[in-house]
Amino acid sequence: MLALTDKFGRPITDLRISITDHCNYKCVYCRTGNDGALYADLPFADYLRMTRVLVGMGIKKVRITGGEPLLRKGVVEFVRNVAKLRSGDGEPLDIAITTNGHLLAEMAEPLKDAGLQRVTVSMDAVDPDRFARITRVPGGYDNVLAGIRAARRVGLWPLKVNCVLMRGFNEDQIIPFGMFAREEGVIVRFIEFMPLEEDRVWSPKTVVTLDEILHRMSEYRPLVEIPHERSETARRYHFDDGVGEIGIIAPVSHPFCGHCSRIRITSDGKIRTCLFSVWDHDLHGLMRRGASDDELAEFIRGVVQRKEERHHIGEPDFVPASRTMVHIGG
Ligand code: GTP
Ligand code: 5AD
Repeated sequence: MLALTDKFGRPITDLRISITDHCNYKCVYCRTGNDGALYADLPFADYLRMTRVLVGMGIKKVRITGGEPLLRKGVVEFVRNVAKLRSGDGEPLDIAITTNGHLLAEMAEPLKDAGLQRVTVSMDAVDPDRFARITRVPGGYDNVLAGIRAARRVGLWPLKVNCVLMRGFNEDQIIPFGMFAREEGVIVRFIEFMPLEEDRVWSPKTVVTLDEILHRMSEYRPLVEIPHERSETARRYHFDDGVGEIGIIAPVSHPFCGHCSRIRITSDGKIRTCLFSVWDHDLHGLMRRGASDDELAEFIRGVVQRKEERHHIGEPDFVPASRTMVHIGG
């Protein structure tokens, strides 16, 4: 089948599929803490069919997201079924889960056995009190740390830790996270805060930029940049002695839309062509009306042609996305 490409010539090879918008955390950069899940979860068979059709169209990476995906019973079986899919060239898919890590300690081994290769754990402080202030849930820090260690132990590798930096909350955690990367043998990725939160507190001043992160970290140890794939979100660095990897995801100060290879499916089965899309495309509605796989593929192809060229964060014409992050999946 013809590879999936948008009208700007960007190959679409990366699917992020959300399996629920429920979450057990209320992180300040994501949710208000008041609103709950808004959308009904779909049966896993439906997510599997959408994934299968997209893999047939050239998707090579599948990220399972939420809300918090490990809250959903049946996720292990879903991973097992996704892991059986093969891309057009017969290669196994690159399958990962992005999780807050709260339930990971007990689930790491079954997930690995089901065919999961990697996890990315969201963790925004390496101090229990600060962690609780950000997640607005007491006592999660120990669970997440245990989850990270369990994932490492069973070989969910390389393990990435995502830290969204938000001024006034955790910019002083940059150096402690540098130490954490070295001590725990994980890749710590700092993410610039984007205007996708329910609280609508974003302003340019709340963003801790790539330049500032590099500057602060260099007061601890020098970093050396290492090459990264063009479609990769993160710029990559290791410390001067080769121990510890750091990534910086800088969609605000250094947008990477020109190399975007992503398509997203929300937990209610809508396609989003950009985190900042102002509309969704109802793939599941089409499935419910009895569409064949070919019809779904044709619909997807048309939707991808309308993928936005870039986001407009911080520009006067910026229009907020039609969904906040917890209802998209990251
Ligand atoms: P790998 O790096 O391939 O392992 O994937 P991953 O799922 O661990 O994370 P990825 O690099 O795809 O995304 C990490 C974070 O970068 C997301 O949670 C978002 O915060 C941000 N991000 C990802 N995709 C986009 C995008 O298309 N646009 C923008 N602006 N930010 C993005
Ligand atoms: N800006 C940047 N990243 C965010 N994430 C959630 N909300 C935001 C935001 N407003 C990140 C989380 C998680 C991933 C799914 O998205 O930290 O790692």
